[in-house]
Amino acid sequence: MKHRLSQLYRQLKIIISRRKIKKFDKIFSLTELNHNFKNRNQQYNYFYHFFWNISPNWLKEHRNYFSKNLRGYGEEAFHAMWYFIFNEIKPKNILEIGIYRGQTLSLFSLLGKKLGFETEIHGISPFTSAGDNVSKYLVELDYYRDVETNFEYFNLLSPILHKGFSTDETMINIIHSKQWDLIYIDGNHDYEVAKKDFVVCSANIRKGGLIVLDDASLYTDYKPPFYSTAGHPGPSKVASEIDFNSFQEILSVGHNRVFKKI
Ligand SMILES: C[S@@+](CC[C@H](N)C(=O)[O-])C[C@H]1O[C@@H](n2cnc3c(N)ncnc32)[C@H](O)[C@@H]1O
Repeated sequence: MKHRLSQLYRQLKIIISRRKIKKFDKIFSLTELNHNFKNRNQQYNYFYHFFWNISPNWLKEHRNYFSKNLRGYGEEAFHAMWYFIFNEIKPKNILEIGIYRGQTLSLFSLLGKKLGFETEIHGISPFTSAGDNVSKYLVELDYYRDVETNFEYFNLLSPILHKGFSTDETMINIIHSKQWDLIYIDGNHDYEVAKKDFVVCSANIRKGGLIVLDDASLYTDYKPPFYSTAGHPGPSKVASEIDFNSFQEILSVGHNRVFKKI
């Protein structure tokens, strides 16, 4: 009985959290967003509201597919964040470190397709269940083939997949091979690895390009909702050490923080 009541209470909180809210019911540019909603929780709430009340159905369908059968992590607000970033920045050369089953990588491809611009999408991942000190990936499958299958499900062209750890020499050479427009760092969450990832990526992101660091909002004033967390110590420490002469934090959506190279 107690369990049932707490389940009902949780459901009610979710329904209330998705309602339409007037101050969020408008499309803003990234600059306007940063200006209008200075508080990290307000920025998060804006994107959460956009996802449930304004976003196109195809964005919701993509999230719905990956939120089932352990296909992906993340949050609805992150899908909305990527929609805004792609709509405004239109990144061409894109890299994700840490792919898991391809939720975000396929979203990048879908966004390029739906918003009508060309993308070249690369991903670096071991394609095993390799985790770190704070993450265990329990699904045993052929991750490489699984990512391809998930791309096929959405009728997307295959991405360029690189099998390895981001700290392997061959993978570092791949990161060095381009000036990227957008890099999403979401691989190993241990400080030493996340730090190396940020250092090598920051040397290879073009001026005006974005690095999005996942799980990086501990030690900030962000207070996560009941279904989420502010991230992990490793990436959060990396974020707290970023040189603000080289990067500007232009947005924060939950435990994702968006840094622009200046
Ligand atoms: C949190 S999951 C990534 C989720 C994915 N970014 C998404 O949004 O769907 C982290 C992934 O990074 C992989 N990984 C672990 N260590 C890594 C490393 N050193 N380099 C690249 N990927 C790594 C894990 O095996 C796992 O697939």
